[in-house]
Amino acid sequence: MASGNQHNVTLVPQHVAVVMDGNGRWARQRFLPRPAGHKAGVDATRRLVQLCVKKGISCLTVFAFSSENWNRPEEEVSSLMSLFLSTLNAELNKLNEQGVRIRFIGDRRRFSTALQSSIEDAESITAKNARLYLNIAANYGGRWDIVNAVQKISQKLLAGDISMQQLTEQLISQEISLADIPEPDLFIRTGGEQRISNFLLWQIAYTELFFTEILWPAFDEAAFDEALQWYATRQRRFGKTGEQVESVRGRESS
Ligand code: IPE
Ligand code: IPE
Ligand code: MG
Repeated sequence: MASGNQHNVTLVPQHVAVVMDGNGRWARQRFLPRPAGHKAGVDATRRLVQLCVKKGISCLTVFAFSSENWNRPEEEVSSLMSLFLSTLNAELNKLNEQGVRIRFIGDRRRFSTALQSSIEDAESITAKNARLYLNIAANYGGRWDIVNAVQKISQKLLAGDISMQQLTEQLISQEISLADIPEPDLFIRTGGEQRISNFLLWQIAYTELFFTEILWPAFDEAAFDEALQWYATRQRRFGKTGEQVESVRGRESS
């Protein structure tokens, strides 16, 4: 799959990135403990994966745990860690059968060895699948991602493998997470907050941003359709004028 989507403007996004927010508030509204919200959040994620398969969306990147989420109460962090482990183990076979390729982005070294080994298994077992690329951001931070890319490039610079002039935007794009797939076309954040919370930073430079009040566990097909319909009405200009974009579209469709 070619990376970079500047000229690949279609009505259905190829790559959707989601900040799955609002599990805690969903649980609170029901007088349930926060972990119950996270569990319901897993159901919503499973639903979204199936919807992407059904709608022919080729890449889905979900924010499961930010590098800042370690600052939550210890019980919540540990319940999230067990949920990640049990979910991954329970869902792997079905996802593999469906042709889903699973990949994790983020610094996995802070996870337990059991979780790290399930992550490695999931990635290697599904590595050749191509129906849906499912990327799970876990212990991920957009700034970490940029620093990580810069470190890799700096090593090449220090080793004399590249020169300072070769340090370009393109080089950073090659070293950043998800370098081999198109950048997100559509970003969705549930839960009402209108912020990025250190999710993909570099990669969303030209992504369309959609925010909804719906809490993550309640995000269903109707909610996803609303986001997709909104996306289809956007004119992606990438710095050009509306007239320029219209004339290219006109030529393409004639
Ligand atoms: C998102 O839901 C899930 C994670 C961050 C792991 P929250 O847990 O942030 O839910 P709210 O924002 O407290 O409602
Ligand atoms: C963002 O949600 C991270 C995930 C959804 C995993 P948060 O709930 O952590 O974001 P803030 O703290 O409200 O910005
Ligand atoms: Mg939140």
